Amino acid sequence: MIRDHRVAVGDRSVRCLEAGAGWPVVLLHAFPLNAEMWRPQLEQVPQGWRFIAPDLRGFGPNAAIAPGGSAPPTMDDFSDDVSGLMDALEIPEATIGGLSMGGYVAFALCRRAPERFTGIVLADTRPQADTAEGRDGRRTLIEVVRTSGAGAVADQMLPKLLGETSQASRPEVVEEVRRMIESAQVEAIAGALEAMLGRPDSTPELATIGWPALIVVGAEDQVTPPADAEAMQRALTRSRLVVIPEAGHLSNLEAPEMFSAALADFLQSHI
Ligand code: MLT
Repeated sequence: MIRDHRVAVGDRSVRCLEAGAGWPVVLLHAFPLNAEMWRPQLEQVPQGWRFIAPDLRGFGPNAAIAPGGSAPPTMDDFSDDVSGLMDALEIPEATIGGLSMGGYVAFALCRRAPERFTGIVLADTRPQADTAEGRDGRRTLIEVVRTSGAGAVADQMLPKLLGETSQASRPEVVEEVRRMIESAQVEAIAGALEAMLGRPDSTPELATIGWPALIVVGAEDQVTPPADAEAMQRALTRSRLVVIPEAGHLSNLEAPEMFSAALADFLQSHI
């Protein structure tokens, strides 16, 4: 059973989806989605584990956008929110995983609170900062969302987020992802784009990760392709790489069974 509840973190209220009981696993969502994207994994929590999927700042239903000011959030803010949530839930350490932007948040957490990790899951993500061209693209998308709304962001992003197999044969996944993107608030999207374009290079953090790491990538991921995942695996001493066939960037939604099996196997054999 999945529990949908809110946790008081300082002056904010963070929505979390939770399932299972036992050793904690925190799952951080991609941009511009929300905790709902982890439902397939929350429905298959292995025995002895507790999965916690929070909405990142500004995302999800009734989210507060800019607590305490109007400056756009940074990746460090997102990672401090996760630390604050873990404090509020009285979880000193956990296996912490993120998909794409969730992975960028996990890297920020490696920098700011490495003592929080018992393991890490890096799905369809990469440690590098944006290129100059990538930053320009994000600035354009900020204008798009402010002038044309979240629907225009969905139109632009869906063909990149989903692999060709999903686009051709999984209409329900396409619809679900579109719904999630369209439900995001304009300022949450703009804020996360600012946070992503300003994030530092996390490549140096790879050498500091001594805990077990699971790297997952969809074989059809065009945003953070398998070559990025292979490079991370070479840099991480205790890592396992799983490439999921017929899945794109949102591998956990596109091939939920394979993703959940890879996660369960990693948790049970490495953590
Ligand atoms: C995501 O899935 O979180 C985004 O595609 C990440 C990005 O744009 O770099």
